[in-house]
Amino acid sequence: MSTAALGLTATAGYLGGHLSFGRGVGVNNTSFEPPVTDWVRVASVSELKERTPKRVVAGTVPVVLVKVDGRITALSSTCTHASGPLDEGDIIDEHSHGACVRCPWHGSVFRLADGAVVRGPASVRQPAWAVKVEDDHVSVTMIDPVPDH
Ligand code: FES
Repeated sequence: MSTAALGLTATAGYLGGHLSFGRGVGVNNTSFEPPVTDWVRVASVSELKERTPKRVVAGTVPVVLVKVDGRITALSSTCTHASGPLDEGDIIDEHSHGACVRCPWHGSVFRLADGAVVRGPASVRQPAWAVKVEDDHVSVTMIDPVPDH
């Protein structure tokens, strides 16, 4: 019995390692985005339509801008679950969470204000970006970029 249990444990460990390290199942797909610590001008306010996601690129990182009731928010555009394009998602209202974006691939819902997961399958929040508006220009920078990655 103990030999069988040891074999089962070793097999489960091998399978888990293969799936996460070899196939990337269950990893945060924004973990390796390079840090963007400067403000990057990415769009003009007049380009943004209410409740219509717009894909921009800050450095090399895709970001989705959304304007809701005149307020502009920004999240990393690559879904933490499996890299779906949030800039192709729907903007919806979730009762206590306010405006959210729903990933077009598997339906995860993220709060626009801070990237929190409102509904899975995603289990890791979407990185939120700081937004600055000067004249007609929209600039973004990462909030709490992870150093040395
Ligand atoms: S890729 Fe976004 S929910 Fe799966």
